[in-house]
Amino acid sequence: MTMLLVGCGKMGSAMLEGWLDQGIPPLDITIVEPNADAADNFVARLGINAVSSADELPSDYTPDVVVLAVKPQIMDQVVAPYAKLTQHGPVFLSIAAGRTLASFEALLGTDAAIVRAMPNTPASIGRGITVGCPNANVSEAQASLCKDLLKAVGDVEWVTDESLMDAVTALSGSGPAYIFLLAEAMSHAGQQAGLAPDLAARLARATVSGSGELLNQSLLPASTLRENVTSPNGTTAAALDVLMADGGLTDVMTKAILAATKRSVELAKS
Ligand SMILES: NC(=O)c1ccc[n+]([C@@H]2O[C@H](COP(=O)([O-])OP(=O)(O)OC[C@H]3O[C@@H](n4cnc5c(N)ncnc54)[C@H](OP(=O)(O)O)[C@@H]3O)[C@@H](O)[C@H]2O)c1
Repeated sequence: MTMLLVGCGKMGSAMLEGWLDQGIPPLDITIVEPNADAADNFVARLGINAVSSADELPSDYTPDVVVLAVKPQIMDQVVAPYAKLTQHGPVFLSIAAGRTLASFEALLGTDAAIVRAMPNTPASIGRGITVGCPNANVSEAQASLCKDLLKAVGDVEWVTDESLMDAVTALSGSGPAYIFLLAEAMSHAGQQAGLAPDLAARLARATVSGSGELLNQSLLPASTLRENVTSPNGTTAAALDVLMADGGLTDVMTKAILAATKRSVELAKS
């Protein structure tokens, strides 16, 4: 299997290192990296191949998978030169936020096999959750290959209805920001309750990250973990009475995620 990685920034390099950890031979991977110093560094450190643009790829180069990991705003201009690969039947795997399958079909041809994937920021530490969505040209073997490649940066889910990608973007794509805000809000509240700012920030950070890891390691649902730390009439119950009242956290989070879903729909149309 030969792989071409177009864009080797934060997300591309995280995936690249994951693939090498999975045992993919470095010489099966070629990256397109416009920055010569960065390319030299990747080649020397990881033993992969690198070119600075699509023009430098050998004319007989026909990768099995082309991973598109550049910023969505420059995707149109970057992707166009790779349309010539479509005739050889690779699968194109895009991780660009908000870029639809139709937008790639317009660039790569309606025959192109394309997977649109939405990772999230914890992918940079191998703890992301990515949702993939294939177009009608993707074979089962290509879908399986893409899932394996995405597993390099965390868990993978699969949907076949592309319209669900707006809700996916709103929940898991944008979700890390909600959790960071939760840490900020808890820190702020701790200060209001009398703690020094530094201590409040450390307690909030450790509580959010530790609870996230506990949730990750536990087989229990979040609701059971919550109930397990809530004594009747205790301190946690007093806080949850506020958070779970009408208009509380669930209502606010639902409003927020529906707003993000709506914005994702709007952005896909623009
Ligand atoms: N980071 C996240 O948490 C996250 C989450 C979900 C989805 N994504 C998606 O992942 C994609 C990449 O995001 P990122 O955060 O990794 O961005 P990034 O760090 O800016 O990486 C993009 C890379 O593409 C390179 N590049 C620019 N023009 C190129 C060209 N013509 N050919 C090949 N490479 C080129 C850039 O090089 P220069 O820096 O030299 O321009 C940079 O190294 C985006 O589409 C984004 O929507 C990211």
